[in-house]
Amino acid sequence: MLHRANHAYYVLGSPEMSDAEYDKLFRELQQLEEQHPRFRAPDSPTQRIGAEPASELPKHRHRVPMLSLANAFDDDELDAWEQRIANLVPDVLTSGYQLELKIDGAAVNLTYENGIFTLGATRGNGTIGENVTANLKTIPDIPLRLQGNDWPGMMEIRGEVYFPLDNFARLNARREAEGLERFANPRNTVAGSLRLLNSKVTRSRGLRFFAFQIESAEPPKISTQHETLDLLASWGFSVAPHRRAVPSLAEAKSVIEELEACIADLNFEADGVVVKVDRLELRERLGVVGGREPRWAIARKFAPEIAVTELRDIRINVGRTGALNPYAVLDPVEIGGVTVSRATLHNMDLIEAKDIRVGDFVEVTRAGEVIPQVLGPVRERRPPNAKPFEPPPQCPACGSDVEHPAGEIAYYCTNDACPARVLEQLTHYASRGAMDIRGLGGQRVQQLNEAGLVNDVADLYELLAADLENLDGFAARAAAQLIDAIEASKAQPLSRLLFALGIEHVGGEGAKLLAGTFGTMDAVMAARKEDLASIDGIGDKIAAAVVAFFAESKNRALIERLRGHGVTFEESAPEVGTALAGQTFVITGTLPNLSRAAAQELIERSGGRVMSSVSKNTTALVVGEAPGGKLERAKALGVEILDEASLLRRIGAAA
Ligand code: IVH
Repeated sequence: MLHRANHAYYVLGSPEMSDAEYDKLFRELQQLEEQHPRFRAPDSPTQRIGAEPASELPKHRHRVPMLSLANAFDDDELDAWEQRIANLVPDVLTSGYQLELKIDGAAVNLTYENGIFTLGATRGNGTIGENVTANLKTIPDIPLRLQGNDWPGMMEIRGEVYFPLDNFARLNARREAEGLERFANPRNTVAGSLRLLNSKVTRSRGLRFFAFQIESAEPPKISTQHETLDLLASWGFSVAPHRRAVPSLAEAKSVIEELEACIADLNFEADGVVVKVDRLELRERLGVVGGREPRWAIARKFAPEIAVTELRDIRINVGRTGALNPYAVLDPVEIGGVTVSRATLHNMDLIEAKDIRVGDFVEVTRAGEVIPQVLGPVRERRPPNAKPFEPPPQCPACGSDVEHPAGEIAYYCTNDACPARVLEQLTHYASRGAMDIRGLGGQRVQQLNEAGLVNDVADLYELLAADLENLDGFAARAAAQLIDAIEASKAQPLSRLLFALGIEHVGGEGAKLLAGTFGTMDAVMAARKEDLASIDGIGDKIAAAVVAFFAESKNRALIERLRGHGVTFEESAPEVGTALAGQTFVITGTLPNLSRAAAQELIERSGGRVMSSVSKNTTALVVGEAPGGKLERAKALGVEILDEASLLRRIGAAA
């Protein structure tokens, strides 16, 4: 389950899943990890809290904070809400309510000045969000200039950006064709799409927007929420369908029931209905709870959708730590607009406890609408030949013995070199929070591994575009892009690398502490257990794991190969040296160890420059195997010729 949760995290790259169900899952994870520390993967979501890299997007402070909503999970909770607010302001009982679908996307805040869209920001923490104006301008429902003339000169429009389900399915089909990971769910993909640095990519995704709120120091002269929506529509905004004004909560409940029945037919995700006190003047009188949730509205959440389908098989995925994670192969079934054919079974004990058998019809839900999970079998529909499941005595990937350490939930493959683990390690290395190699997801890793091109992370840096072009689904452009992305990963700081190596117990935060304290890979490698454990935030367990990792000769060999490829071994950008100051170089042919980019980086770090063609001003031509016409030209001009080793000597770097 850990593995799958992590996977969802990386694919989604979203630290913002605040859904109650996700919280519950998260707390369960935390508890599990506390009871069974070995189960805690270094990249577990629990290790990532507050560890997100600062985004490069400019920040924006909302003029009026963006609030969130309290939830009601059943009608009784709705009644209790009305009771509470009616005690404060009895007028709510006669004001009527406005019902709106609760759109499951990302909240944004749009600033309009004199009818012109000037700035758009994500919600962020409610007070400060990120300026994503360029991306929001690609959304057709966001008018760049408003219609009419009855808008305040300065105002903020709030609403929800969402992913139409047909566009989401198209995006995933496209990604699959390109060998990229599928995105797991529309909501988190919206958040990611809004924060992209290239708005052309955002545009291609086909996001849409529904408006529902106006904030202004000089609000328009209307008195209800339903008029707000009409006004927004008259200015050119889209407002969500199925909005309804009702006179009482009793009426609201029956409309909500109707709406719940029709959400499956929508082309977007809605996870509830927002019940809003219709009269705007009551809002102020009702106030806000804890500076976060207004009393005038509440989200009546729909029950998570459950589907019943056939469990075709139980398979096992071997995680990076060797843990065997069982998952269900299902007869594909649609849950809330997304087709599900795989779901987690959590762990072996649970399969037994719930008596889940292959061939059973099982109830499946999307927990927190992210990771589909099997809830349990439908006993009445069990076919006579349904097969009980037994944890395998051997690893399904490599055949090595499986161990089930006393007191732990997970079963483990005992083989460090298990190919399934190797794939997971490679995928982790390339993942977002680690070296962030775009376009290198699980499927690609598998493809490269099966082609015999990549068996460990250092092999990535030896890939050539030509190797890739021979593989299925790799156009020349895709090959060049992947090579560039791998190349670019060399510049990631040491903290990313330490995390990416998958040292047991070293999560993103731990890696930052190590890199921040020691500064270089060599210092980390040389550190004694006591040195490591003395860092605030690094316990004995992490310290021991780090020492054990670097004590293994195969790990040290891997580190040396990464060094040879020019992967950054420092936390801060290294200072530019002077060994090659004022000198210019041209590179031709394939160098024995360094990639073109790594050689260029080395030269530039030493103060030199790299040019693309040889002239009489070129200091030296660096020559590898199969050089081009540049060699002839250099000879003709009398330019010095160097090989890789002599270049490295000149820089003072070991060959
Ligand atoms: S009103 C004062 N109306 O739900 C609170 N919110 O859980 C303003 N949401 O951050 C929210 N559909 O992004 C409102 N029709 C709707 C909504 C809606 C979706 C989101 C909104 C907010 C979150 C709160």
